[in-house]
Amino acid sequence: MEIEWKNEILYQDLVKWDSRLKYEAPFFNEIIKSIDNPETRILDVSCGTGDHLVMFAKWGYRGVGIDISEHNIAAAEELSKRNKTDGKIKFIIGDMLKLEESLEGEKFDFISCIGNTFSIFTPEERTLIFNQMYNLLNVGGKILFQVVNYLSHTNETEWFYKPIILRGNSDEIQYTVRIMEWKELKEKITMYVLKAQQEGEKSENFILHKKRTEFYVLKSNHFKEFTDKVNAVLSLFGDYEKTEFNEKMSKDLVTIITKK
Ligand SMILES: C[S@@+](CC[C@H](N)C(=O)[O-])C[C@H]1O[C@@H](n2cnc3c(N)ncnc32)[C@H](O)[C@@H]1O
Repeated sequence: MEIEWKNEILYQDLVKWDSRLKYEAPFFNEIIKSIDNPETRILDVSCGTGDHLVMFAKWGYRGVGIDISEHNIAAAEELSKRNKTDGKIKFIIGDMLKLEESLEGEKFDFISCIGNTFSIFTPEERTLIFNQMYNLLNVGGKILFQVVNYLSHTNETEWFYKPIILRGNSDEIQYTVRIMEWKELKEKITMYVLKAQQEGEKSENFILHKKRTEFYVLKSNHFKEFTDKVNAVLSLFGDYEKTEFNEKMSKDLVTIITKK
């Protein structure tokens, strides 16, 4: 399928930052405070538009954000400047498959990789990423992954999420629909995104954008394998409210890995 618009535009469309951060803030606050270091340094891997790091900086924490998208990093820098947190955060354009190369000599106490990013990588790539994140972590530090728990959809062949309706810059209407479909013996998911964008306010014409992305179905065992190898402590949750993880029911798979 032809890809007509870039990842970053899709990502911006799908996130409602105010409500998302309001929901996530208590979880992050608790996890960061639980790390016994007054100078806690944070690394956000695939930081997107930097919204989490800006929130952490407002709480007083210094951090680094890395993302492969120049567009997202430019938006992150802009957001940080607007919030006067630019003295506390460094943003880097870089590939998370080469994390150590971009962050040579640096160490962190809290490393996050959230927003389902880890699900786009192959098993070999995931091992490479995890090992580098772990090397960059101080003893006593924590790594957080958050991915979608697609196993809660095992009984459906295909399904869709509630459509998103937005107003664009010139007040034109934008409708976005996400349709999900199982692939390859339920080891993978295909996501089709269709976006209908009005050509201008009051116009009768709509432009149709379409995109297809594939995700691996990540399970708790994948994370257990990583942590067993390095003898770290693994905690699993089903969401940011710390509900107990249930493979059949939980919306998300949230993992906290603590370095001993
Ligand atoms: C769904 S967004 C999640 C962003 C953010 N963590 C969040 O929770 O909203 C996925 C992000 O991963 C970034 N990304 C994809 N592949 C990457 C790679 N190889 N290295 C670094 N970032 C990558 C994209 O540019 C995008 O910003």
